[in-house]
Amino acid sequence: MSAWQGLLKQYKDFLPVTENTPALSLNEGNTPLIPLERLSEEWGVNIHVKTEGTNPTGSFKDRGMVMAVAKAKEEGSKAIICASTGNTSAAAAAYGTRAGLRTIVVIPEGKIALGKLAQAVMYGAEVFEIQGNFDNALEIVRSISEKEPITLVNSVNPYRIEGQKTAAYEVCEALGKAPDALCIPVGNAGNITAYWKGFKEYHEQHQTGLPNMLGFEAEGAAAIVRGEVVKDPETIATAIRIGNPASWDKAIRVTEESDGRIDMVTDDEIVEAYQLLAKTEGVFAEPASCASLAGLKKQIDSGKIKKGSSVVCVLTGNGLKDPSTAIDKVTVKPTVIPNNEEAFMEHIKGGVVR
Ligand code: F0G
Repeated sequence: MSAWQGLLKQYKDFLPVTENTPALSLNEGNTPLIPLERLSEEWGVNIHVKTEGTNPTGSFKDRGMVMAVAKAKEEGSKAIICASTGNTSAAAAAYGTRAGLRTIVVIPEGKIALGKLAQAVMYGAEVFEIQGNFDNALEIVRSISEKEPITLVNSVNPYRIEGQKTAAYEVCEALGKAPDALCIPVGNAGNITAYWKGFKEYHEQHQTGLPNMLGFEAEGAAAIVRGEVVKDPETIATAIRIGNPASWDKAIRVTEESDGRIDMVTDDEIVEAYQLLAKTEGVFAEPASCASLAGLKKQIDSGKIKKGSSVVCVLTGNGLKDPSTAIDKVTVKPTVIPNNEEAFMEHIKGGVVR
């Protein structure tokens, strides 16, 4: 088997890749699908997680961004722009730089995780913090991209969806078929749209079946669940702090076609899942990602997912993106010890070493 060379090479026959598309890659994709053995046993369903945090910039956004940036370059664009709650800006900055494009990102002031901000500035993007939220930022960059020769790389760009659909291919390849249900966090609803497209295409080729698509918004930003725009969205899961999802209609269609649903989870449920995942399974995903696991738990508790079902939860971003939330949420801090082996032994006796 040849070594993995990134999505545009691996899936060129299924993506809008032409002979003029630049061979852009940071070796994105091919992320692990990990079984959660303990939680599967405890909850009575067969759970795998798709750990998208292992992508080059630490989130699923790399899949869509490699495609969108390669097409922008192919079409002669000199600059890209996006609004972001953090991960899109990190991916845009990395791939924009790699492709030699001017990259402008607009983020909500004070509301993005530290790691994501560090990435955007390190990769050399022009970073603007808007004194408003993500929805305001998206409105502005959409308008600018219509007036100026600059490519919008938010998920309303159809190439983003094309790239992101490859995650569903990988899930089917790893399991040999589609799971009974896919649980996924919902912000702008681009990713749920992309996964569904991927599952449908893969099924057409390989008869792998189709999952029920279960999307989860944060309660304080649950526009789709409530059926109305949330003017001031608020949640600890800053990545999905979005009150007017751009792909709202598409998400509704996905749930109708797949016999799925969009539900919401509270910040407490998100934090519980976030800690449980790390402590019981050794998997550290950012808070927004854990809306998928929190949502699964809620569906199991309410009897909406049958015991014995196979479920894949998408963990969209790496836990290291947001160190502040991790530190804020743990109650047990490191024990400070003197610089002395004997004193240290006294501490761990009866503790670690039993
Ligand atoms: N999980 C994470 C970690 C995200 O960063 C996002 C979106 C989502 C889930 C939701 O995906 O928008 O396709 O429904 N982040 C965008 C950003 C909005 O700017 O990074 P979606």
